[in-house]
Amino acid sequence: MNILAPSILSADFWNLGEAVRQVEQEKVRWLHIDVMDGMFVPSISYGMPVIAGLRKRTELFFDIHLMIERPERYIQDFADCGADLINFHIEATEQVEETIAAIRALGKKVGITIKPDTPVAAVEPYLELVDMVLVMTVEPGFGGQKLIPQCLEKVREVRAMVAAKGLSIDIEVDGGICAENVAEAVAAGANVVVAGSAVFKGDVRGNVRTLLAQMG
Ligand code: DX5
Ligand code: ZN
Repeated sequence: MNILAPSILSADFWNLGEAVRQVEQEKVRWLHIDVMDGMFVPSISYGMPVIAGLRKRTELFFDIHLMIERPERYIQDFADCGADLINFHIEATEQVEETIAAIRALGKKVGITIKPDTPVAAVEPYLELVDMVLVMTVEPGFGGQKLIPQCLEKVREVRAMVAAKGLSIDIEVDGGICAENVAEAVAAGANVVVAGSAVFKGDVRGNVRTLLAQMG
């Protein structure tokens, strides 16, 4: 069963709670929460207080995507404010194994993330240690960009690597996913799909239904 993880970066923040309720009503179970620090990526989004506020009101699985330098500094904080899974960029730290271990020690699931220019070989040493690999399909930093088609080739390569090792970890895609390309992303090997603007711009519930119908 493939998973849709709506990214609240594209939600209407005036009505954030209502946006979350709308995806819940369509049986969505994951929420993708993008944290940006203005250093690893140019933008600054939101952080722990917003996540903690959401955590009080929803049972959704919180898939946190850290786009921050040296994520090891903040693992405890994100665990405390309600993360279920913490993704961090391997380009953002020299302490990949230590960061994986710190997330695990707090009882949270672990995802490692790569930008479009990072080769898939970079994740190979860590595959046995993680629950998920997030393959970015746009340059991280902004919602509403167009998917870079070559990134789907990387998804195929990660899926093949994971299968060759006999592992069953999740592969997530993030960036530019829409009704027109989501089936292709799933066919390439992604089983967790992030969508921001394709969910939250316009008719949220209708958008979720359209995406789910294409995902299988
Ligand atoms: C971009 C973020 C994404 C973003 C996706 O850096 O990681 O999660 O919200 O937005 P869309 O689906 O609009 O490309
Ligand atoms: Zn993201």
